[in-house]
Amino acid sequence: MNKKYRFSTIVNFYSKTLTLIVSGMVFVLFLYNTAVAKDKSETQVNSLSELVQMFDSSSCKECHEQIYTQWEKSHHARPLMGLNDQIFIAGYLKRGPLAVKPGEKAAKRNFPCFKCHFPQIKYATDAVAAEIAEAVLKDDKATVRKLNIGCLVCHNEKAVVHGRPEKQVIYGNKDIKDHPGRPVKKSPLLKNSLMCGQCHGLGPNLEFEHPVQCATLFGSYLHAYIPSGGTETCQECHMRDGDHYMPPNFNNRAELSERLKAALPLQVRTLAYTFQPKEGDVRPMVVVNTKITSKAGHRIPDG
Ligand code: HEC
Ligand code: HEC
Ligand code: HEC
Ligand code: HEC
Ligand code: HEC
Repeated sequence: MNKKYRFSTIVNFYSKTLTLIVSGMVFVLFLYNTAVAKDKSETQVNSLSELVQMFDSSSCKECHEQIYTQWEKSHHARPLMGLNDQIFIAGYLKRGPLAVKPGEKAAKRNFPCFKCHFPQIKYATDAVAAEIAEAVLKDDKATVRKLNIGCLVCHNEKAVVHGRPEKQVIYGNKDIKDHPGRPVKKSPLLKNSLMCGQCHGLGPNLEFEHPVQCATLFGSYLHAYIPSGGTETCQECHMRDGDHYMPPNFNNRAELSERLKAALPLQVRTLAYTFQPKEGDVRPMVVVNTKITSKAGHRIPDG
């Protein structure tokens, strides 16, 4: 009797839990659906030329010439072109889990790398991903060079983390209502290392069907530099006086080695002596102590 009573209580308990779980799932599905619906309400263009147009930075050049020229020389202006102007993503589309053939079958899921190398892809449909894949596989550099981390990627898409950026607004360090073309709104994020950390990596990106790991430098900044007393932001070290060149530039070998020499000073101490294990056997010896100190706010090299 007692046992039976307990059994029915347990059944009752389970059915209540089940109801809770099911209704929980329905709620989550509801949230998921609204989130997806919201994402869909975000403009999604169907052609690469529309996407390039949407984030085009060339109009900024006229008035922000110095910044534009600095940016143009930076790695942010060619995030899909590696050393010696190679389209590095081609290898991944030809071999391995992200490979696709022919290019027109590609979809956004073939490009987990775009999370950081070309984040504006979220405003485009799979058809645009296919267009990019075709250009990459044809080694069409003229087209791939147009895909960049331009002014509006940083000053709009990546300029706020709470809520979505307002369309047609440029985020800056102060409000300028009558800024030509679009109003400028103040966003405190621009002075924060998190702004850069959105792309400069915390560790493996496990959210993808095929997880990838590339940059992890922001993780090293947060977990090593800051806890050991570091106080500077990425911007303070890499954007002095608003400089948008943001070195190091791996395509400028001479400049790079100068910078690394200054950033990683090498201290060498030597002690010379002679060692005489037995009479007549004199061996010159030397002790070399080396110490490399890093002036960077994170590990070097990254990636
Ligand atoms: C016709 C000229 C003109 C054009 C075109 C223009 N700007 Fe500006 N912009 C200005 C002026 C003038 C200021 C104000 C400078 C000041 O007060 O320090 C400004 C300020 C800004 C600021 C705020 C600076 C701060 O102190 O935070 C940002 C960011 C900015 N512009 C980005 C852009 C971007 C991105 C584009 C292209 C989409 C662009 N601007 C196009 C003239 C222009
Ligand atoms: C979490 C963001 C993120 C993801 C995801 C990511 N990368 Fe990167 N990648 C970066 C950043 C930031 C840099 C530059 C800074 C650095 O190396 O520390 C970089 C640098 C590179 C470089 C060196 C570029 C050069 O100019 O030599 C290559 C090559 C590269 N990534 C390939 C890839 C590929 C291929 C994928 C996808 C399989 C990928 N990355 C995914 C953020 C990312
Ligand atoms: C990789 C991200 C990134 C890109 C790309 C970028 N900016 Fe900026 N920009 C910033 C950040 C961050 C700041 C704020 C830096 C600070 O105040 O320390 C800034 C500051 C500025 C300022 C204010 C400068 C000052 O001296 O106060 C202007 C104007 C500006 N950007 C215009 C542009 C234009 C025009 C482009 C395209 C040619 C561009 N930015 C591309 C991140 C970016
Ligand atoms: C939208 C993503 C994104 C944002 C935001 C961003 N970066 Fe980058 N950054 C990249 C990628 C991707 C590369 C590598 C491009 C390449 O060479 O392929 C890069 C390259 C660089 C490089 C050149 C060295 C290298 O390893 O290529 C420096 C330095 C750098 N970023 C600093 C910054 C700083 C400082 C900020 C914040 C003000 C910032 N970045 C914001 C994505 C981003
Ligand atoms: C204390 C100053 C300092 C801080 C803070 C700092 N950096 Fe650096 N960073 C350096 C120095 C120095 C180098 C060496 C290369 C050079 O000077 O050009 C470097 C190199 C880099 C490189 C090239 C890495 C490589 O593989 O060679 C990237 C990318 C970069 N920094 C991005 C960032 C980002 C993003 C942040 C913020 C999360 C940041 N840095 C914070 C000083 C700093």
